[in-house]
Amino acid sequence: MRYLLYLLIAIILVPSIAAAGYREEFEREFLSKPWAGEQVEVDACIGCHSSDTMKQEYRWIVENWKSSWHAQNNISCHDCHGGDPKDAAMSMSPSRGFIGTPKYAEVPDFCGKCHIGILKNYLESGHGKALKASGRGPVCITCHGTHRIDKASIDIINEQTCTKCHSYDRARRMKQALFVVEKKMGDMERDLKTLRSEGIFVDEKERSLFSTQAEFRALFHTVDVSLVSERTDDFTKKLSILDKNMQDTFAELRFRKNFSAFLMLLFAGMGVIIFIYSKLPKE
Ligand code: HEC
Ligand code: HEC
Ligand code: HEC
Ligand code: HEC
Ligand code: HEC
Repeated sequence: MRYLLYLLIAIILVPSIAAAGYREEFEREFLSKPWAGEQVEVDACIGCHSSDTMKQEYRWIVENWKSSWHAQNNISCHDCHGGDPKDAAMSMSPSRGFIGTPKYAEVPDFCGKCHIGILKNYLESGHGKALKASGRGPVCITCHGTHRIDKASIDIINEQTCTKCHSYDRARRMKQALFVVEKKMGDMERDLKTLRSEGIFVDEKERSLFSTQAEFRALFHTVDVSLVSERTDDFTKKLSILDKNMQDTFAELRFRKNFSAFLMLLFAGMGVIIFIYSKLPKE
């Protein structure tokens, strides 16, 4: 009887230990991603720029940055502005690589040193060409903001942002062209989240989705509606393969759950039978 109890406990414990293992492994992997930049213990830029002596109109910058996607990914002041965050006295010296604030027309190169593929598409686009020819094209921060940069989505395409220079009509057509693939990617992101909360190791699937997502979103920066429509089939196909793989994992998960429920019932039933048997009058 006691062994049966041990067995039951073991059956309950084993899957949850395995799930904890998955989660730990995922976290370790995540923190060691190549772009999880250099960690500076005491950052002089942030220290001084958030101190009381900082001039009022600059004080909010640190707060804005703190809630940005860049801050969450360890992209700090010096990663964009240059300079030395370890030495307060010299931190804003050009000899330590400080480049300061970019002028409007310099912003694409300033951001594009990291977002290389996007810069390339942007420079070849109607927007990039207009910037070069007349200085009237939008730059990265026109659409994304400067310090409180969030994760990007098609919500950036809205009347407020896109009617500053031309009618909303062409922006709307672009948004419609992006919609199908964006919707699919949104659904798949939600499914990945569900799988992860079930303790399934999804790192590889996640990487695959993120790289497809990055590739697709870079395409927007061409602002070429017919190019986006043309590439939609390619992207839909690529995503279907990954989606099929995810649906298989869901099926496997359901099977595993049903199977452990079956085992539970089986052992509970056996327990009852053994109990009744042990209560039967002995001869
Ligand atoms: C993603 C890149 C990026 C990061 C990270 C970043 N900045 Fe900036 N910063 C910019 C850009 C681009 C501008 C120019 C904005 C403009 O012209 O409107 C700027 C402008 C500034 C200015 C001048 C503002 C003005 O009104 O003249 C200050 C001061 C500044 N940043 C401080 C900081 C500090 C402090 C941090 C860290 C907490 C930081 N920045 C992080 C990109 C960045
Ligand atoms: C000891 C204080 C202090 C430290 C450390 C410091 N700053 Fe500043 N920073 C200032 C002050 C003060 C100003 C305003 C200067 C002005 O208005 O002339 C400023 C202005 C700036 C500006 C806007 C003006 C410009 O030249 O472009 C940027 C960008 C900036 N800081 C970034 C940084 C970065 C990046 C670091 C770290 C590598 C840093 N700061 C470290 C005090 C500091
Ligand atoms: C030092 C490198 C670096 C610089 C410079 C830089 N970024 Fe980033 N940026 C990153 C990293 C790393 C991430 C996080 C990984 C990711 O999401 O792609 C990121 C994320 C982003 C995202 C969100 C992407 C998403 O997943 O939705 C946007 C938007 C963005 N950056 C815009 C900008 C803009 C605009 C500038 C210039 C003002 C800029 N970046 C400058 C490295 C940089
Ligand atoms: C700072 C001004 C400015 C803003 C803001 C702006 N655009 Fe533009 N846009 C231009 C200019 C300039 C052109 C190219 C000249 C033209 O065709 O009028 C252009 C062209 C376009 C084109 C046509 C490109 C082509 O090659 O045919 C599309 C599509 C477009 N913009 C979409 C958008 C969207 C979407 C937004 C908002 C997220 C936006 N624009 C915000 C200035 C702007
Ligand atoms: C006219 C507005 C506009 C301009 C200018 C612009 N972007 Fe974007 N950006 C967007 C929109 C809209 C998206 C989201 C597209 C989507 O969801 O398909 C986006 C997506 C992104 C992403 C997310 C890609 C990913 O991996 O998910 C990054 C990073 C980015 N932009 C950086 C930049 C940089 C750097 C520049 C300047 C060279 C720039 N953007 C110029 C509107 C703009």
